[in-house]
Amino acid sequence: MARDVDLLIRGATVHDGTGSAPQRADVAVRGDRIAAVGDCSKLRASASLDASGLALAPGFIDVHTHDDFALLLRPEMDFKVQGGVTTCVVGNCGMGAAPFAIAKLMARSFHPDADFAPWEGYAGYLARLDAEPPSVNAAVLIGHGTVRAAVMDVRRGPTRGELDAMRALVREGRDAGAVGLSTGLVYEAGRNAATDEIVELAAELRGTGALYATHMRNEGSGLLDSVREALEIGRRARVPVQISHHKASGRDAWGKVTESLRLIEDAQAEGLDVHADQYPYTAGSTVLAAVVQNGAFDPGAASRGLGGVEPGDVAIASAKGREAWEGRSIAELAKELGLPARQTAERVLAEVPHATVVMHTMSEDDVRTVMRHPSTMIGSDGVPTLPGKPHPRLWGTFARVLGRYARDLGLFPLEEAVRRMTSFPARKFGLRDRGELRAGAFADLVVFDPARIIDVGTYEDPNHPPAGIRDVFVNGTRVVRDGAHTHARPGRALRRGA
Ligand code: ZN
Ligand code: CU
Repeated sequence: MARDVDLLIRGATVHDGTGSAPQRADVAVRGDRIAAVGDCSKLRASASLDASGLALAPGFIDVHTHDDFALLLRPEMDFKVQGGVTTCVVGNCGMGAAPFAIAKLMARSFHPDADFAPWEGYAGYLARLDAEPPSVNAAVLIGHGTVRAAVMDVRRGPTRGELDAMRALVREGRDAGAVGLSTGLVYEAGRNAATDEIVELAAELRGTGALYATHMRNEGSGLLDSVREALEIGRRARVPVQISHHKASGRDAWGKVTESLRLIEDAQAEGLDVHADQYPYTAGSTVLAAVVQNGAFDPGAASRGLGGVEPGDVAIASAKGREAWEGRSIAELAKELGLPARQTAERVLAEVPHATVVMHTMSEDDVRTVMRHPSTMIGSDGVPTLPGKPHPRLWGTFARVLGRYARDLGLFPLEEAVRRMTSFPARKFGLRDRGELRAGAFADLVVFDPARIIDVGTYEDPNHPPAGIRDVFVNGTRVVRDGAHTHARPGRALRRGA
């Protein structure tokens, strides 16, 4: 007997991703696309799934990841798909996947002993994903820091020739289908770049729909000037802007998000396409070397925008070879070693140059203020340092927004939380036919229990999938069944606008 569709998901409460009120409906899937939404009782399906009492939504789009290498090293991407994520945007914070030699050097922080056959440019990276597909879809950002370190001495500004060489690398990524250019203006490779340099590089994206995403120069007491710089780059280069992990970091800066949100509103009112992403936690995470280099443990740190970061706020997340340090704060280690904080951090770095940290530097009020704001979408900024104790946002970001911030705290209705992680990011990043649950869209889907969904991992014990996520489909193929990975790898490398 002929079948009309491959799969029928029956009886779910459907959140279509647009933010409109959820409705009870059946959803039919044929091949990699959604075939129908509504009453599907007349369709004959090869397989069916009862989802009554559960929510069905488009798969979550994680716009802020550092999974460039994890997609190849851990292609099942369990820490994403079991949390409902079906698409990752990689290459954030200036750290991109090409040129390969530099990308690989930078990736040592996250994957100390990974080895790969090299690829050529962003085109080569995307082709590698085509050949070795992961379980999630992936879109790429061009990393400004990677481009910069590939052509010049990063401690200074570029010569005209170096700038031209960087522009050529940006064009390669653009033409390969990258969705934007990212900067990491606190990191070694990016911090000495002037605004003009970034404008020239971002201008290569003008008119293509690709955006400029930025980990700004200063997220502490210099937050507002940093937002102004990001907006200026968008205006002058005439490209859309995405402010990465919008926050105020360090006690001295708490409350400044009210002002930074107003700057975003003003720029939007004047016509600039600017938004931000956020992870739902009061702690951040990065490489320890960058924290030390930015002077967090020096006297007078406040003047450099790191005010109010205490050694007790900073805990080791991953320290390969020194696992006993993982989970312990710089203050604890300082006491044990009988050293001041700065020397303690340097001692850790001497033994584990690629150590990463979790930093408890934000206020819960600010997290809520940013999340409520309509300019904010969700991005995990997960750091895939597995094994180790990665920040729990790696696994739990989306479940935490849905369970804690939408359901328990009532910041916004569930359908609005879903929109912030589906159609909103899909539109901003130019991911066609994704992020919406409608006939004709790709069948990236997540079935979850709105009453139970919540993040489970903690800072002490982070590596757990969230509760309440039952089934996940990527391009019509099931990657999670009853919370467990099916080992299917139907993910695709997504090219801008394709
Ligand atoms: Zn960042
Ligand atoms: Cu990041």
